[in-house]
Amino acid sequence: MSRLRLCTIFLLSIVSNYIGIVSSVSRFDDKTDTPIIGVLAQEISWRLDQIWPGVYESYIAASYIKFVEGGGARTVPIWIGKPRSYYETVLKKLNGVLLPGGGTWFNQSHGYAVAGSHIYDIAQEMNDNGIYFPLFGTCLGFELLLYVSNENQEYRTYCSSQKQSLPLDFNKDFQNSRLFGTAPESIIDILKNEAVTPNFHSYCVTKENMTQFGLDKKWDTLSTNRDFKGLEFISTIEHKRYPFYGVQFHPEKVLYEWIRNRNISHTEGAVASAQYFAQFFVNECRKNDNRFDSIDEENQMLIYNFPCTFTGRLNSTFEQSYLFERDIDYGRGNGENEDITVVLV
Ligand SMILES: *[C@@H]1O[C@H](CO)[C@@H](O)[C@H](O)[C@H]1NC(C)=O
Ligand SMILES: *[C@@H]1O[C@H](CO)[C@@H](O)[C@H](O)[C@H]1NC(C)=O
Ligand SMILES: *[C@@H]1O[C@H](CO)[C@@H](O)[C@H](O)[C@H]1NC(C)=O
Ligand SMILES: *[C@@H]1O[C@H](CO)[C@@H](O)[C@H](O)[C@H]1NC(C)=O
Repeated sequence: MSRLRLCTIFLLSIVSNYIGIVSSVSRFDDKTDTPIIGVLAQEISWRLDQIWPGVYESYIAASYIKFVEGGGARTVPIWIGKPRSYYETVLKKLNGVLLPGGGTWFNQSHGYAVAGSHIYDIAQEMNDNGIYFPLFGTCLGFELLLYVSNENQEYRTYCSSQKQSLPLDFNKDFQNSRLFGTAPESIIDILKNEAVTPNFHSYCVTKENMTQFGLDKKWDTLSTNRDFKGLEFISTIEHKRYPFYGVQFHPEKVLYEWIRNRNISHTEGAVASAQYFAQFFVNECRKNDNRFDSIDEENQMLIYNFPCTFTGRLNSTFEQSYLFERDIDYGRGNGENEDITVVLV
């Protein structure tokens, strides 16, 4: 073999090593290191409305905001009850949307499900047009992703999984998924073997529900679990085509909710595994390069404009909540001259 040839092989191997290192260290995919993620509000909860009757129209449990912040992003609240044009305008500026859990119905006009339906459609459109736009649904948000995917038709079944802490039963191919494919082995071990996923749901999604409504053609099931009565339900999903993810359990409660006797694990392993979901989602949102027109506009819309109330002290299941009053046009943003500060009780 000639010296030249050897040299070429040597050079080639250096180059390919270099490319290998670069692609594993820096992610060419990343479009932003300062993601801003929308978090959808929902109808005021029964308990919060009982504490302040008729005062608040909608809320966001602070644990969802902190979940996103803890993953390395900032958040913007997304209001319910707005026309589609509002959701189009705001999603164009955001890098992804989190659909939180909660306790509302999907059939209410101007509510969480209607807003979620707009968000889903717009996100789907953006992805179809080559704009990587991730969605993450937790508990009711997970159910909402499938509800919208099912043409806004009911598909769930009642079940018994309140205050149930569970390890995940992974499906055979789960490690081929985007959500778990690059997860550290230590995180998979915890999720597989320790009861670290807290469940608080009255509805379950079964395999039958997925096949019956053709949802299995659009979504991959990554894990299942069994409720207190032995009913098998789906606990983790990801969309086959879009960067849309859903978990039936509550990683944000592991990190940020401290209400007692609710079977929420706060062990070191539980916290590490919950944090995995936050970082995964935020990393997905880094791949989107939507942005606000100006820092001023960004400042007007960030959640930092709103006070956070210590609702755990008042026997809410949420330690802290963002409460939004009725009859206030939050759509305009919270500019310097607009006195729309939420009353703190
Ligand atoms: C919404 O669905 C729930 C549960 O099925 C039902 O109790 C309620 O009456 C429905 N509300 C409306 C406005 O249809
Ligand atoms: C969902 O599946 C369960 C059985 O797994 C069934 O009892 C229930 O009726 C299904 N839901 C709907 C809306 O068809
Ligand atoms: C917590 O969840 C486990 C299931 O992992 C269940 O066996 C136990 O009864 C639950 N505890 C409470 C207090 O609900
Ligand atoms: C919270 O619950 C405790 C214990 O049940 C009760 O004593 C207290 O009055 C409740 N506080 C409110 C604001 O409902």
